[in-house]
Amino acid sequence: MGVFSSAFLVLLLMLVLPFSGFVNGEKDELKGCDIYEGRWEYDDSYPLYNSSQCPFIEMPFDCQNNGRPDQLYLKYRWKPYACDLPRFSGKHLLEKFENKRIMFVGDSISLNQWQSLTCMIHSWTPHDAYILQRDHQGFSTFTFLKHNVSLILSRNALLVDIAHKSWGRVLKLNTISDNNAKRWKDSDVLVFNSWHWWLHRGRKQPWDFIRDGDDLHKDMDRLVAYEKALSTWSKWVDKNIDFTKTEVFFQGISPAHINAKLGGKNGGKSCREDTKPLIGPPHPKRRLSAEVIVEKVISSMSNKVHLLNITRLSQQRKDGHPSVYGRPGRHIGMDCSHWCLPGVPDTWNELLLAELTRS
Ligand SMILES: *[C@@H]1O[C@H](CO)[C@@H](O)[C@H](O)[C@H]1NC(C)=O
Ligand SMILES: *[C@@H]1O[C@H](CO)[C@@H](O)[C@H](O)[C@H]1NC(C)=O
Ligand SMILES: *[C@@H]1O[C@H](CO)[C@@H](O)[C@H](O)[C@H]1NC(C)=O
Repeated sequence: MGVFSSAFLVLLLMLVLPFSGFVNGEKDELKGCDIYEGRWEYDDSYPLYNSSQCPFIEMPFDCQNNGRPDQLYLKYRWKPYACDLPRFSGKHLLEKFENKRIMFVGDSISLNQWQSLTCMIHSWTPHDAYILQRDHQGFSTFTFLKHNVSLILSRNALLVDIAHKSWGRVLKLNTISDNNAKRWKDSDVLVFNSWHWWLHRGRKQPWDFIRDGDDLHKDMDRLVAYEKALSTWSKWVDKNIDFTKTEVFFQGISPAHINAKLGGKNGGKSCREDTKPLIGPPHPKRRLSAEVIVEKVISSMSNKVHLLNITRLSQQRKDGHPSVYGRPGRHIGMDCSHWCLPGVPDTWNELLLAELTRS
């Protein structure tokens, strides 16, 4: 090929590329790439926003404002080995999801991810009007008015029902009633999550008895209960969600760093002294039992539910939790379960958007 024709080709590409769109290019690049296998890289252009640009951020996530002294943890970007994640674009998201609903269903880890996404978009378009509505059924709806994009949080820690009887609260492993779940149906994107509350005991346990079919238990193996509930959830989703309209995700298990085996500074007693990601594979390399259950249940479904496979990459971010900076001033308490914002959930959202771009 002569100099002339290759110059012509370059010219042609320059003309065509802006129209065919980088979005398609990104789609091709992501094709076949395992976006969850990668490493954390220092990137001076991060974080994606400053929490002071996010006026509605909830205090427990606002670590910098609560007095966290270090900032290095804000500077990491997830780099898959086999491709690059597209850089977040609020404009791209608002245009792609015009007149649509993205819903997160789950516990406060879902709140963490929902809030991250609202902050990411708002800081990108600070002058776009928004409204935030909360109701008594546990729904919070954040709407960007110009594009009519709604980001909805449905607080529902266990996904299955809890019945309130005169003799106590009954966790019902086999039922998801329309009362709770009706509004999940008309979303364009659904991101479910449930795990941490299955471990609570004592005053934090939100039930007194567990109903499994005809049996009523005072307690049972929590992993067995979790698997039964997820199986109920999977049947509900297969039956009630229109998969031609809705993309369904399950947010993989978000690791808490209270387990001594997870490594980093200070053993597992706290996540306070860690200021940068753990390098290399996390300990234990063995997978969490809850992760294995999630994968088993999802793979047995008749429809395709995507796993947002964030467990491993989040295990390397012991530095990303609020630790004692979950509230201003009085540095008491130790939160090694939630995540500072900006922070790790921003990456979960970049991964979610990458999944939505390629599907
Ligand atoms: C965020 O913005 C505030 C106010 O402009 C500034 O004081 C602070 O240093 C910024 N934080 C970071 C981490 O850049
Ligand atoms: C906004 O989007 C919702 C779906 O999320 C739709 O039901 C509603 O009609 C839209 N409103 C307008 C004014 O287009
Ligand atoms: C999720 O990630 C883990 C570890 O990175 C991997 O072993 C597992 O196969 C992945 N699960 C799926 C469904 O891709």
